[in-house]
Amino acid sequence: MGTQLTNVQVQKYFDKHAAGYDEQMGFFERHVLGNHRQWATAQASGQVLELAVGTGLNLPSYSPAVHHVLGIELSNQMLQLARARISTNGLGDRVEVRLGDVQQLEVGDATIDTVLSTYAICSIPDPDAALGEALRVLRPGGRLILVEHGPSIRALIRAGQHLINPLSVRFQADNLLRDPLLIARAAGFEVVGTDRAGWAGTVHRVVAVKPSAIA
Ligand SMILES: C[S@@+](CC[C@H](N)C(=O)[O-])C[C@H]1O[C@@H](n2cnc3c(N)ncnc32)[C@H](O)[C@@H]1O
Repeated sequence: MGTQLTNVQVQKYFDKHAAGYDEQMGFFERHVLGNHRQWATAQASGQVLELAVGTGLNLPSYSPAVHHVLGIELSNQMLQLARARISTNGLGDRVEVRLGDVQQLEVGDATIDTVLSTYAICSIPDPDAALGEALRVLRPGGRLILVEHGPSIRALIRAGQHLINPLSVRFQADNLLRDPLLIARAAGFEVVGTDRAGWAGTVHRVVAVKPSAIA
């Protein structure tokens, strides 16, 4: 797999590990990352697009300011669990999830108020393409909300991340070295807020807007 992921490799990985995903993620959120899901969903409003929605862990916590959530996901097994969560929580009237590729969204230009992503940039094969698509589908002034893990604020931990990254990509479809702030800026977003959280500052929280000058 090297340090480059393909859609097929990522999809196979998450299909295989979907059943244990919530438990594994819960462990990491309790002990390493912290819980930032409510921080993220509290900033969403209107028509929301969630990139790489996974098993739908964010879906129950969207506020009434959100009219509709569309979640896109590559892995069918992850998606089945998201669908079960929608049904269990009675969210079907305003939440929809679809199989798809966030690098090539089947969503119209400038139709979305908020694009939200949690812990997805690390697994998407081409995150530049995904945030380029996020920019395209957002209305001018629309917001991008990211909670992602990435390089630590501590040099020693960052060195360790560089060391283990090839293994993390190969065995967990998880790139430890992507900086969501830089990717958002490169895509054309104006970053309006950013901070670091979690163990050794490995969680990157970003709020960005699509500049009004971009149609
Ligand atoms: C670590 S999980 C995060 C899931 C969810 N966002 C969460 O917060 O729990 C990464 C997810 O990204 C999905 N993914 C990776 N590449 C994708 C792509 N090109 N299009 C859609 N989903 C993708 C994977 O299938 C997986 O479900």
